[in-house]
Amino acid sequence: MSHIALHRREPAQPDPALRAFAADVQAGLSAAQKNLPAKYFYDRRGSELFEQICELPEYYPTRTEIGLLRRHGRDIAKLIGPEAEIVEFGAGALVKIRLLLDALNRPRGFLPIDISGAHLSDAAAELMRDHPGLDVRVVAGDFTAPDLKLPERLPGAQCRAGFFPGSTIGNFTPEEALGFLRGAARMLGEGDTGNSGLLIGVDLVKDPALLHAAYNDAAGVTAAFNRNLLRRINRELGGDFVLERFAHYAFYQPRQQRIEMHLVSLAAQSVRIGGRRYDFAAGESIHTENSYKYTLSGFHKLAEQAGFRPTAVWTDPDSLFSLHWLALG
Ligand code: AVI
Repeated sequence: MSHIALHRREPAQPDPALRAFAADVQAGLSAAQKNLPAKYFYDRRGSELFEQICELPEYYPTRTEIGLLRRHGRDIAKLIGPEAEIVEFGAGALVKIRLLLDALNRPRGFLPIDISGAHLSDAAAELMRDHPGLDVRVVAGDFTAPDLKLPERLPGAQCRAGFFPGSTIGNFTPEEALGFLRGAARMLGEGDTGNSGLLIGVDLVKDPALLHAAYNDAAGVTAAFNRNLLRRINRELGGDFVLERFAHYAFYQPRQQRIEMHLVSLAAQSVRIGGRRYDFAAGESIHTENSYKYTLSGFHKLAEQAGFRPTAVWTDPDSLFSLHWLALG
């Protein structure tokens, strides 16, 4: 009898990032208040849309923070001192890191930490060209992971200064923000702390009308950014969301001092993702993002709890945004 060997091909293993995305989407859409983690906004299209948001007339944080970095570069440089190694948490804002590096006295090293280390290398090469004494090492990793280890401090670097601009800390819950700050204090405080510390941008509480406008821009870019999350689920996880059936809804919640972004189902409908069905009642929402706003004293308290010494804070004349130097040691 002839023998036919059947070689069953193993199904291709999805990469771990895709598996994690699928698991997070499944868990989030199965919860009583449906939700999706905001970190998934940033696929290629989402990152482009976010860059457009940063240019919008209503979105004050980016230009205000850039103004603060320009205006106070000298003071910042004095606090950080010469020959510092800069650690950027979640690299991307190249305009901002350039402003900081230009202000500093002979910066020694730059360590951008980013989940997808790869796309950073072009930008890193350009930075090295413009700052010949600068040693750039891209760290691929999740800067919110409690066990993330940085490479040894460069020989000759006088201190380690963290840089976390853009009020990205506002996208964490206050508990997560404390966890992040504690992790940053640990990473930056290794060895002789000297002038080590963290330069961090934090959005401030203000007239809710201004906040509302910033997350409900007239051109509809924030709405497209919010809905793009559904498009990403369709493409990467085989979903069948019809984007027009979900409305962008963002509002300020004063009790928790946060903007909440939601996608509201405009009708009773079912959506399939990778063989599972999710039912939506008319008017039911998916909570997609929180963006916490702080008072100066509220943020100082959080920083102190994490082991930092708030040493300097710069704000614009309208008190829209703040930039803090949190010292260690
Ligand atoms: C990245 N992050 C600080 C932005 C924010 O303002 O919370 C993301 C964003 N969401 C809507 N517009 C901008």
